[in-house]
Amino acid sequence: MKFQTERPVTWQVCIACANETTELDPHPRCQTCGGLLEVQHRPPALTSAELIQRFTERRGQRPGAPASGVWRFREVVLPSAHDIVSHPEGNTPLLHREVIDHWTGAERLLLKHEGHNPTGSFKDRGMTVGVTQAKRIRARAVACASTGNTSASLAAYAAQAGLPALVLVPADQVAIGKLAQTLAYGARTLLVRGDFDDCLRLVEEASRRLGVYLLNSINPFRIEGQKTIILELLQQLAWQPPDWIVLPAGNLGNTAAFGKALLEAYRWGLIPRLPRLAAVQAAGAAPFARSFAEDFQNRYAVRAETVATAIRIGAPASFERAVHAIRETDGVVLAVTDEAILEAKAVVDGSGVGCEPASAASVAGVRDLIQRGLMAPDQHAVAVLTGHILKDPGLLLRYHREMEPPPPGANRPIEIAPELGAIEAVLGEA
Ligand code: F0G
Repeated sequence: MKFQTERPVTWQVCIACANETTELDPHPRCQTCGGLLEVQHRPPALTSAELIQRFTERRGQRPGAPASGVWRFREVVLPSAHDIVSHPEGNTPLLHREVIDHWTGAERLLLKHEGHNPTGSFKDRGMTVGVTQAKRIRARAVACASTGNTSASLAAYAAQAGLPALVLVPADQVAIGKLAQTLAYGARTLLVRGDFDDCLRLVEEASRRLGVYLLNSINPFRIEGQKTIILELLQQLAWQPPDWIVLPAGNLGNTAAFGKALLEAYRWGLIPRLPRLAAVQAAGAAPFARSFAEDFQNRYAVRAETVATAIRIGAPASFERAVHAIRETDGVVLAVTDEAILEAKAVVDGSGVGCEPASAASVAGVRDLIQRGLMAPDQHAVAVLTGHILKDPGLLLRYHREMEPPPPGANRPIEIAPELGAIEAVLGEA
């Protein structure tokens, strides 16, 4: 189908066959060819200056008003939504730490810390829109497959909306903080004896059979919410885009969302030029980096293995959308080793900022880009930290207490007898 005459405010289009469907169509994929859907909006009725003014006014909210860093941008996210499910979310800081500049080689690297969202990851931005959409289409229940953050976020927003939530996660491969949250917020949690890619395949089948609304990032409304990471950081930079935006990449929903946000912001006159995207994968889970190296001639699926369990994904679902994002922004895709991720994480943690392992891939990626001469040290870069340090305390304790030989950033705790002399002995050693 194509909308022939006047277009609605918002509709969905298949990125494979260009079939169009309504905003309230609940199917997660194109019903004609099975391709991924994209949400499209009519260009906003306001000029770019008027839009920016409106976003600015909403940022300086009246005291007590719900200040969401997602719905502040509602004209370009989901203009027709009224009854929204918001925690609220977003409003995450843009940080700078000299020790991180020193480690990466950048002169002034900014960190957009999405771990400051209500459930501790960027997923809340997509989930407020996804669960709002679930209410609009009168879903009976919602579901997702996850490496842990999506499930924690879905569980929290479904609880708020009063919707039953079903989540599928790989057994024994989810960081403890994420699993604990998912259980505590009340989602029905299935530990699948398989990996994330198995979980995603299964949950798609289950949602089709059981008529449960699928809220993985293949759902295009999730992407609309995640666009606001970019919109908010551009607003924080007074709409002067950086040269680079660097992010960790797994299932590629976020890479797709970043590309869409940048292209729309450029098209609608919010920014004068496009930054380059750098998507960073873990070397043991890098099918997208491999495709990029071959100019996206081939698509790969791998058996994924990495300490950064959030991005332990071998067959990313949003591949085509992400290819578009990288191509249109003259972007790059790289892979960094687990050693580099752990080293970057120790530096980010040691700076007092802290992040989860997958997030540190973006900081390791900045160092790699500079070392390879792709990024100049004086270029303006923003690295996105996608999750909170406490998401993965298991890895933290292994790193600091157990790994042999102690890694470079290890901070071994020292057990002592309850005596002053013992403290003096330790300090004397230092
Ligand atoms: N960083 C963190 C902390 C994540 O949790 C994820 C994905 C990513 C980066 C990668 O984003 O998949 O859009 O490329 N986590 C998903 C989940 C898969 O289930 O929580 P992506």
